[in-house]
Amino acid sequence: MAIRQVRLETDEILRKKAKEVDEVDDRIREILDDMLETMYEYNGVGLAGPQIGILKRIIVIDLYDGSKPLKLVNPRIIKQKGEQEVDEGCLSFPNEFAKLIRPAEVIVEALNENGKKVKIKGEGLLAQALAHEIDHLDGILFVDKMIPGTLHYVDPNEPEEK
Ligand code: NI
Repeated sequence: MAIRQVRLETDEILRKKAKEVDEVDDRIREILDDMLETMYEYNGVGLAGPQIGILKRIIVIDLYDGSKPLKLVNPRIIKQKGEQEVDEGCLSFPNEFAKLIRPAEVIVEALNENGKKVKIKGEGLLAQALAHEIDHLDGILFVDKMIPGTLHYVDPNEPEEK
């Protein structure tokens, strides 16, 4: 496994549409493991392929709630319900946060790291993370959806103000 370089906000690759994965092979599994390792290095809850410069429809998520991390290939939201207002950040925008509206609940279809079809129901933070990471695959960033005037900077060395 290896830590990959995280592409930052002005990097054009973040605006490109990622391609579907045809076959979930060892190479894809290796990239997914690298993505998780990279995400853990920066204490993120999710990471998408384009963020490490790989234009493939792959995402990883770990909410640090004791459940297994998700490694998803070709994920797509097939259903969504409700709304939640969230304060959100992104590893490609270090220390920047903004408020936006995400679905309260999503159902996602994807392939897992073994190429098996899976269906995931996410509520709350998981719904938010799935929506955020899947947006990355279409070149959409959280700042595109932010409620105007809510962008704020959080100094990682200071306790966060609510
Ligand atoms: Ni992000």
